[in-house]
Order: sequence, then C-alpha cells, then structure tokens
Amino acid sequence: MSVAIFGATSRIARAVALRWAEDGHAVWIGARDVAEAERIAADVRVKTGVNAVAGAFDAVDMDAHPALVADIEAAVGPLDCAVLAFGDMGELDEDHTDFAAARRVIDVNFTGAASLCEAIATGMAERGAGTLIGVGSVAGDRGRQSNYVYGSAKGAFALYLQGLRNRLFKRGVHVMTVKLGFVDTRMTWGLKTRIPVATPEQAADAIHAAAKRKVDTLYYPPFWRAIMGVIKTIPERAFKRLSL
Ligand SMILES: NC(=O)c1ccc[n+]([C@@H]2O[C@H](COP(=O)([O-])OP(=O)(O)OC[C@H]3O[C@@H](n4cnc5c(N)ncnc54)[C@H](OP(=O)(O)O)[C@@H]3O)[C@@H](O)[C@H]2O)c1
Repeated sequence: MSVAIFGATSRIARAVALRWAEDGHAVWIGARDVAEAERIAADVRVKTGVNAVAGAFDAVDMDAHPALVADIEAAVGPLDCAVLAFGDMGELDEDHTDFAAARRVIDVNFTGAASLCEAIATGMAERGAGTLIGVGSVAGDRGRQSNYVYGSAKGAFALYLQGLRNRLFKRGVHVMTVKLGFVDTRMTWGLKTRIPVATPEQAADAIHAAAKRKVDTLYYPPFWRAIMGVIKTIPERAFKRLSL
C-alpha cells in the first residue's frame, strides 16, 4: 500500500502523511522545497518505520506531472491513495492589480491540481482501485470580494472533483473533496476571528477517518457546512451589498 502527499510542507499534509504511515502505507512526500521534504520523510520513517521517500513537486510544472507520477510509483509502488494538499491563497491587492499573480493562484489551486489528478487517476482507473483526495476550501462555495480569485479556483477544483468522482466511481476509485474552514497554519497566520480554528492534527484526523468511510465531500470543521449553507442562500442583490 502506498500514498503520495503533494504539498507536504503544509502542517496539515505532514499530519496526514503520518496518519497513512501509521496504517502501514509507504509514503511519497512531495514539495517544492526538497530539503524540507527530506526532513519530513525522515520524520515519518523514524516515527512509523515505513518506507518514506521525498521528491520535488511543483503544482504549476504541469508538463512534468505524468512522468512524476510514474517516478513516484516506481519508488513506492502503485498508489492506493493520493492527497493533494497544496494551495496558494495569494495576496488580495496583488491579485487585483496584477493578473500574473491571480493566474498563479488559479494555476496552483485549480489547473495544476486538475493536471495532477489526471495523471494519478489514469493508473488508479486502470487498476480499478484507489482514493484521490483534493483539499479545497469553503471559500470555493461562494464568490466573495475578499478572496474571489482563490475562491473561484477552489470552487472550480471542487466541481472538477465532483465530475471526476462521478466518472471514477464506476471504475472502483473513490474521489473525496475536502472543504476546509479555518485551520491553524501559515495560511491563517495573524487571522483574528471568533470562529473556532482547528489544529492541523484535527484536520488530518478528520480527513483520514472520512477517507476510510468513503465520504464524498468533507466539511471540516463540520459546522462550516451549515455556515456555507446559509451564506449560499443569501440572495445576490443583498449579498453584493455585504463586505464579506
Ligand atoms: N489553513 C486554512 O485555514 C485553510 C482553509 C481552507 C483551505 N485550506 C487548504 O488547505 C491546504 C493546506 O494549506 P495550509 O493551510 O496547510 O497552508 P500552507 O502551510 O500555506 O500550505 C500550503 C502548501 O501548498 C504548497 N504550495 C504552494 N504553491 C505550490 C506549488 N506551486 N507547488 C507545490 N506546492 C505548492 C506550499 O508549499 P511551500 O512550502 O513550497 O510554499 C505548502 O506546502 C491548501 O490546499 C489550502 O488551500 C487551508
């Protein structure tokens, strides 16, 4: 059994890698920072005793994704599971004044994620087994002035995963969409909110448990499903006047 974790320097991703390793999976740890990926792989090996291999991964290097997946499977075996944990929220002002910055956010969160899913899904579909997990965001549930470039990319990724799940279900492959609310990571550093913030370990536990139950769409923390349910029902003529 083997799992690949993409975007492994995320604290959520590190905790996810440990959960699957504790189940006995060989783990491939992919990140832009290969030295840090090596340190994470060493930590996984020491804590769990499984085979953990580190490698370079860049979401926007899409032409390289098919060969990368072949290399990963040569190193740790055919993938039973893949977790796409990477994401880039961008900078609001930059996204609005510089489309190159906005495009990077779209490419990391959607185009690059879809490219990697395609590369992984082919093998899983041929083998008739596997679990593909895409980490998205509640920000993808409704466009808001505060982060709509990131939100639209996450929303597009959620729609993509929905279609992929529909296609691969008949091929024995499970596709899970994770919609995270606030989790205490680099991404939320300095965030001031009265809404409870989950730890990366809690998020990883929830992702791991939901994957075992073959959940289709996981909201975590779970109360975000209700929050977004309400936000989605606000009529557009009122919503556009809000400052969300
Ligand atoms: N924290 C939250 O409240 C929250 C809420 C909703 C959704 N999420 C989602 O949760 C996931 C994990 O994020 P996080 O909260 O743990 O934040 P994070 O610490 O900023 O992690 C983001 C990860 O994405 C990687 N990444 C960014 N651009 C990349 C690229 N071009 N190629 C490969 N990897 C790239 C980063 O790698 P580097 O170390 O190289 O930068 C890092 O490993 C993301 O998908 C994020 O959108 C988080």
